[in-house]
Amino acid sequence: MDDGGKDPELRLAEASDLPAVVDLLRRQLEEHDIALAPATLEGSVRTLLTEPALGRILIATYGDEVAGVALLSFLFTLEHGGPAAWLDELYVDPRRRGHGLGARLVAEAMRVAAERGCVALDLEVEDGHDAATRLYERLGFHRHRRVRWARRLQ
Ligand SMILES: CC(C)(COP(=O)(O)OP(=O)(O)OC[C@H]1O[C@@H](n2cnc3c(N)ncnc32)[C@H](O)[C@@H]1OP(=O)(O)O)[C@@H](O)C(=O)NCCC(=O)NCCS
Repeated sequence: MDDGGKDPELRLAEASDLPAVVDLLRRQLEEHDIALAPATLEGSVRTLLTEPALGRILIATYGDEVAGVALLSFLFTLEHGGPAAWLDELYVDPRRRGHGLGARLVAEAMRVAAERGCVALDLEVEDGHDAATRLYERLGFHRHRRVRWARRLQ
């Protein structure tokens, strides 16, 4: 894809980035077969953008184009002995994959989480998502022998 020779910029998302962030996350959820009403997705992104105590949204941009997003959610866990972060979403536009954006977004997420006092970063990888598995292994993450469970509360 033509980027005019520009290097990508990594930064925290701002209110004006909301439509582009929602668009990337919608595509991420579709790729993972997760059904979320558009208004709920947009409302959740808006909440994270306005309440930094909850988490952070990082984006990778080429000029006005938002090419990738990483979403951090903050936790407090006994397991890690203090504040930790959950990498809730990571998505790079398919046209921009294979150029290091995913790795840079995760590295930046680790930096931002550590700066906020987090002692660890947790994440999950769906079976068959080999590109993500390779990326996290390269960046020093280790795999638990666990299965994550969930149920809705209403
Ligand atoms: C997983 C994902 C974020 C990776 O994004 P990405 O920008 O392609 O990641 P990177 O470019 O850092 O790494 C991808 C590959 O490109 C290679 N690469 C990176 N920079 C490169 C460069 N300059 N030249 C050639 N290859 C390069 C990496 O070595 C890596 O190779 P590998 O897959 O054989 O290990 C992306 O595939 C994605 O969004 N997938 C769908 C959503 C998803 O699965 N998210 C994770 C949730 S668990």
